[in-house]
Amino acid sequence: MSSDSKPKSDGIGGLPAPLSNLEIKYTKIFINNEWHNSVSGKKFPVFNPATGEKICEIEEGDKEDVDKAVKAAREAFAFGSTWRRMDASERGKLLNKLADLIERDILILSTMESIDAGKPFAASYLADIPGAVKSLRYCAGWADKNHGRTIPMDGDYFTFTRHEPVGVCGQIIPWNFPLVMFSWKIAPALCCGNTIVIKPAEQTPLTALYMGSLIKEAGFPPGVVNIVPGYGPTAGAAISNHMDINKVAFTGSTEVGKLIKEAAGKSNLKRVTLELGGKSPVIVFADADLDTAVEIAHHGLFYHQGQCCIAGSRIFVEEPIYDEFVRKSVERAKKRVLGDPLTPGIQQGPQIDKEQYDRILNLIESGKKEGAKLECGGGPWGDKGFFIQPTVFSDVKDNMRIAKEEIFGPVQQIMKFKTKEEVIKRANNTTYGLAAGVFTKDIDKAITVSAALEAGTVWINCYSAMSPQCPFGGFKMSGNGRELGEYGLQEYTEVKTVTMKISQKNS
Ligand code: NAI
Ligand code: MG
Repeated sequence: MSSDSKPKSDGIGGLPAPLSNLEIKYTKIFINNEWHNSVSGKKFPVFNPATGEKICEIEEGDKEDVDKAVKAAREAFAFGSTWRRMDASERGKLLNKLADLIERDILILSTMESIDAGKPFAASYLADIPGAVKSLRYCAGWADKNHGRTIPMDGDYFTFTRHEPVGVCGQIIPWNFPLVMFSWKIAPALCCGNTIVIKPAEQTPLTALYMGSLIKEAGFPPGVVNIVPGYGPTAGAAISNHMDINKVAFTGSTEVGKLIKEAAGKSNLKRVTLELGGKSPVIVFADADLDTAVEIAHHGLFYHQGQCCIAGSRIFVEEPIYDEFVRKSVERAKKRVLGDPLTPGIQQGPQIDKEQYDRILNLIESGKKEGAKLECGGGPWGDKGFFIQPTVFSDVKDNMRIAKEEIFGPVQQIMKFKTKEEVIKRANNTTYGLAAGVFTKDIDKAITVSAALEAGTVWINCYSAMSPQCPFGGFKMSGNGRELGEYGLQEYTEVKTVTMKISQKNS
């Protein structure tokens, strides 16, 4: 398929139809702007989660391939290299060029993302791909604005700081938002002048590899971005243990986040930023606009089959409106349309793989067993692929597994509360701290509760509202560091203090 392929028919609601003739051109390891076979000769299969069918095979990166990629990234980062000598504004131009190319190829990328990750096409086309473009453009604008300061140091000295790139950055990303996570990682790193070895998730390597071709076409020098597809315990661990990688940025499970930090500690104390899981509370007070709260809480949980780190998976509803909230939430969940992600009008696709599917079904069973009230759903859907019925539990108690563990599936827990003090305590009673939502018309309540919640992001009368200008990350075991926004750039910057002796300082 060439990039000028046109959709055959109109989709729905002004949306183009997904491509029907998608060809997967890039299946190899991307190092130094070239495509490589794996050193081991191994490949791994990639599946369409909606059908269970194999899409293609990908060269499987492992330690030796990561070593090659790090060597390329290190050379590209060498003092005096094309990349190091490039004007910062030029780095911004390259990022914008890359964004232009994504926009040009949006049909290819959104069709690919839907097939690879099980995302409804409308979500890929309207949210994921434009979201990736936005982060690239946001960071493009910052490229020549991330500057140091002059400092009024004591004594006869002239002191200034330089904001330097950290060096070679290892980046490990998950399967839930493959292209968005790819751009959240590469955009700030490149903006600040770093070089990259990035590993996409084994479930969803396709759009990342396609990006390799666009990175080359945009004109990034060889070695600046290297893409090594492969598995976590092999290629991923090779990145986190590498002695010549200066920083690792990871998004994924808390369990693996711990391993990454441990590997950094055992190797070269590389800088680590982590964006991990969550069990985010959504608090609905009785004075809230009920229908709005139901609708937003619904999307806050069910979006992308519940496979979102920010999924609002503990809904606390104030007693007077509890029954009504449950009734409306169940009605809403029952309206979700499931099916193949490429079919127009589909709102819910499959879970990413068998492992996640089994895990979610197991957690649903635990909810039933532990005494939560199953209001709707509660099992698999359809006869192929990894679909799960939209599921709502009421009468959920804080000590049940479904109230404590990250489910990462279409399973909504609704709990009851009586007082503000009680709900703050219960909302914070978790090892996670990624996001939270508060619904109320009372300004004082909104501000007090948002201050009390231990979470990196708090939404008031909204949820999941994200944009590249806003820093994103977690408190507690939801992670370390922030992505996006000006804060996100600090994670890709080393501050160097340069002090020069001078004969006489004057104010
Ligand atoms: P995972 O944490 O195993 O995978 C995420 C990435 O880490 C993938 O690229 C994987 O290859 C890599 N990885 C795995 N083991 C590694 C290791 N030892 N060293 C270095 N890299 C490694 O997540 P998984 O198994 O796909 O999902 C498990 C759970 O994690 C989900 O059910 C969900 O609760 C959570 N999760 C959270 C995400 C988020 O957005 N914060 C995204 C994906 C999963
Ligand atoms: Mg895993």
